[in-house]
Amino acid sequence: MSVKAIREALAARFGDAPAVPEDITGADLLRRIAQRGSCRSFQDRAVAPDLMDTLCAVALSSPSKSDLQQRDIVQIRDPALLAQVRGFLAPQLWTGAVPHLLIFCGNNRRQRQLHGWRGHAFANDHLDAFFNATADAAIALATFVTAAEAAGLGCCPISTVRNHAEDISALIGLPDHVFPLAGVAVGYPAADTPAISMRLPLRTTVHIDRFDDTQIQQDVADYDARRLARAPYAQQRSPERFGTAERYTWSEEKARQYALPERTGFGAFIRRIGFRLD
Ligand SMILES: Cc1cc2nc3c(=O)[nH]c(=O)nc-3n(C[C@H](O)[C@H](O)[C@H](O)COP(=O)(O)O)c2cc1C
Repeated sequence: MSVKAIREALAARFGDAPAVPEDITGADLLRRIAQRGSCRSFQDRAVAPDLMDTLCAVALSSPSKSDLQQRDIVQIRDPALLAQVRGFLAPQLWTGAVPHLLIFCGNNRRQRQLHGWRGHAFANDHLDAFFNATADAAIALATFVTAAEAAGLGCCPISTVRNHAEDISALIGLPDHVFPLAGVAVGYPAADTPAISMRLPLRTTVHIDRFDDTQIQQDVADYDARRLARAPYAQQRSPERFGTAERYTWSEEKARQYALPERTGFGAFIRRIGFRLD
């Protein structure tokens, strides 16, 4: 049953689903991941602190570059603090009712502290220091989401946290060389089944031996048509600026999204907290 459900979910998501082996191990977890979707609407029910702590521990069991462990999670438990942070996220209306919020942080501070304590120079003060901590935090975030969804919770990452990196860092007391990667909204989902968000076909994003995007324009056009037919956007982005498109496709939406400047101050923030990005 699980294998059939995995096939159906992957077919719905990618269009060109693989032949899922009948005897695959861990089919139930794979099915859950294949069927997953972000959750932006929650029940008015608290997640027990023990469960949240367990999910954080599971998330931090994920791989970490060179065992450096350059990521931390800040659970926001104080209701007044939660209200303050939610205030910064308010332009995304759904965040107003988020029951729990965690901030996933990259942390290169600890590594630098080790150098001080052990008396060795930190000779890698360049882009990689920021990049490694970012990757570690992102891996922990993704693992947290998978774990939380397996435990029956709903989640949605929130990168809008970075639109207010200075303010939110100050509120939760982040020191230099520690930065917010994203928030994660967590709670018991209001709906039973999340919607499956379609992805680009696997032939576009999974390469064998050599990267190949020779068919990319056609692949995106086909994907646009598939999404438009099955899951059209409810609204168009900034029609006052871009007009109203007759066919409002994924590629039009994504091109409009990054036609408007966003987070232009983030690089300056990262430099201010001590990173060299060269
Ligand atoms: C790092 C990251 C940041 C995200 N930030 C936001 C956000 O600020 N607001 C939001 O509604 N969704 C956010 N999302 C969720 C994505 O929009 C979502 O994963 C994507 O649309 C695919 O949908 P799915 O998760 O249901 O498959 C974020 C996801 C990631 C991985």
